Amino acid sequence: MTTVRISDDALALACGAEAVAAAFAAAGCTVERVSSWGMHWLEPLVEINGVGWGPVSPARVGEIVAGGADDICIGPIAAHPFIIGQQRLTFARAGKTRPLSLEDFAASGGWSALTRARAMAPATVIGEVLASGLRGRGGAGFPAGIKWRTVAEAPASHKFVVCNADEGDSATFADRMLMEGDPFQLIEGMAICAHAVGAARGYVYMRSEYPHAIAKLKAAIALAAEHIAPFEIEVRVGAGAYVCGEETALLNSIEGKRGEVRAKPPLPALEGLFGCPTVVNNVLTLAAVPHILSEGGAALYARLGVDRSKGTMPIQLAGNIRHGGLYETAFGISLGDLVNRIGGGTASGRPVKAVQVGGPLGAYVPPSQFDLPFDYEAFAGADALIGHGGICVFDDSADLAALARFAFEFCAAESCGKCTPCRIGSTRGVELIDRIRVGGKPQADAVERLPQMHNARKAGRSREEELALLDDLLEAMQFGSLCALGSFTPYPVRSALKHWPEDFA
Ligand SMILES: Cc1cc2nc3c(=O)[nH]c(=O)nc-3n(C[C@H](O)[C@H](O)[C@H](O)COP(=O)(O)O)c2cc1C
Ligand code: SF4
Repeated sequence: MTTVRISDDALALACGAEAVAAAFAAAGCTVERVSSWGMHWLEPLVEINGVGWGPVSPARVGEIVAGGADDICIGPIAAHPFIIGQQRLTFARAGKTRPLSLEDFAASGGWSALTRARAMAPATVIGEVLASGLRGRGGAGFPAGIKWRTVAEAPASHKFVVCNADEGDSATFADRMLMEGDPFQLIEGMAICAHAVGAARGYVYMRSEYPHAIAKLKAAIALAAEHIAPFEIEVRVGAGAYVCGEETALLNSIEGKRGEVRAKPPLPALEGLFGCPTVVNNVLTLAAVPHILSEGGAALYARLGVDRSKGTMPIQLAGNIRHGGLYETAFGISLGDLVNRIGGGTASGRPVKAVQVGGPLGAYVPPSQFDLPFDYEAFAGADALIGHGGICVFDDSADLAALARFAFEFCAAESCGKCTPCRIGSTRGVELIDRIRVGGKPQADAVERLPQMHNARKAGRSREEELALLDDLLEAMQFGSLCALGSFTPYPVRSALKHWPEDFA
């Protein structure tokens, strides 16, 4: 009997994978639900004996079973240009294993890193993480080993491991794919971290918008209990606030408090969850750990990448892009390669105008900077950020002034309200952009405020003065905000102003 492999990842389901699976079952095939390969434009993608077809609709199932449907056949999936060019470490099992199969996990090396780590002294485990050069994948890029060492060395009877699975950035989905496709790997990474720092309990803080990932991870934690004992993990579900991805707001949220950012110091590594030393790491950071703790893994990881950006990054290609999906590769690949060669340019077929890298607080980068290597320091040098590795593509119909305005709007909507530059400055920013654009194309809700804007003009502020005021405001937000929500909002605004001044005319 033919065995057909189809992903049960949320994106595949959204594209109709369930109906396709049912059609294959009705045609007498054995259907195996596996993780996603991450080629989103081909979903629902089906695999028979290593060969792929996609996107498949139920109407094409009969042809595929009969050995036809050549027009949607992509040949051997593992040899597809999108897959073969990748260096998959964190996503090594993507497309290949059944997410909740302990058998598949163990057969592909699962638990061996945990066994190895538990046979080592905690300080040796931390030494391997330090040697790998692993940096946090949630956005700030802080060295994971240093954070772990701080928690390990903090004198306390209780310590925690918290996995940040809030994944609030636009154009990102790697955490979700990992938790849905290879949840045991994250669990193994958390258990290794717990051994290294001396924690008995862990939490995964996940966004409520990920119902499939929540269900999968909870099921996986129950299945893995005996492998990770005495360490225990609990899933906590957020309530939809972007700021709860910020680590201290997240800790408040787990504690049942309002998701408000805490002042640092104290660092969560010293006084985190319930006042105890706490490691807060992103899903991808923790999921990279089993590879690093495998025999020779740390050295291999450190050899990949460039300068201080070591290892691989699961990059997410999204927005107006022809070949959107998950592309894991060593740091150093150029932005242009990712967008044009791998992503195939825009889905609309129009020229690329801008890409926003690093979520809603990331800079907009023009094609003239597409030689920028994917590397934390290179991006920082270009006033941009890698963040969680999301790339959102826009074609030439995008209005960068409207997107700059959106950055302020987003900040105003998501601000926790603790500090003035972010809480008030974001709203003043929306107004300033509208005033700068008077005579251009005001947004719908700005029309109501037009008289007030004209009054500001009548009061004598020229366009240049409004622009100078905007610059002042951005400076106040950048240097006067408590956390990156307020202090990074200037990135999208400044980059839009710098590279597309004509859009603000
Ligand atoms: C407003 C805001 C939102 C954030 N959202 C996330 C998020 O969704 N996921 C994440 O891992 N880190 C997020 N971060 C970064 C975390 O504060 C923190 O740096 C991260 O969890 C540390 O883990 P890492 O070192 O493994 O990256 C956010 C930060 C800010 C300021
Ligand atoms: S910058 Fe904004 S989100 Fe961050 S602490 Fe201040 S008010 Fe809260």
